[in-house]
Amino acid sequence: MTRVLFVCLGNICRSPTAHGVFQHCVDRAGLADLVEVDSAGTAAYHVGNSPDPRSMAAARQRGYDLSPLRARQAVEEDFDRFDYILAMDHSNLSNLKRIQPDHFGGHLGLFLEFAHQFDDVEVPDPYYGGDEGFSHVLDLVEAASEGLLAQIRQELAR
Ligand code: 4NP
Repeated sequence: MTRVLFVCLGNICRSPTAHGVFQHCVDRAGLADLVEVDSAGTAAYHVGNSPDPRSMAAARQRGYDLSPLRARQAVEEDFDRFDYILAMDHSNLSNLKRIQPDHFGGHLGLFLEFAHQFDDVEVPDPYYGGDEGFSHVLDLVEAASEGLLAQIRQELAR
């Protein structure tokens, strides 16, 4: 089993988008029994909330349903559960490094390391911007999801 956790600040915009898009890729690849997907926020402001309605609407336009997701906060125990912990931006990553136990043997990094056709390293926070920010998040997340799935497929084939 390979377990993947996506992390942003609030767990209502970027990481639920990554969660829904990557889960869709995993399902389509027939790997749902081998790859587990989750998401969390470094902050607790939105714990228990559904994704932002703007994220849900942008995702729905591309065929992804984010409505079952609920926000939770990332915790130290996530490092015992997940093989990949993927942050949306450098701020999320440095917050995660602060709770990362020394014994963590998985991969902690930026999600866009896997978006090979983009030079961007961060998924920009769309919360205070317009609708185009939400569709840009989807562009980046779709590209990174393909790259991540390709890497995990290679690992599973070994
Ligand atoms: P996210 O976006 O980290 O992509 O979920 C945000 C959501 C909420 C806030 C900031 C960013 N906020 O400040 O409440």
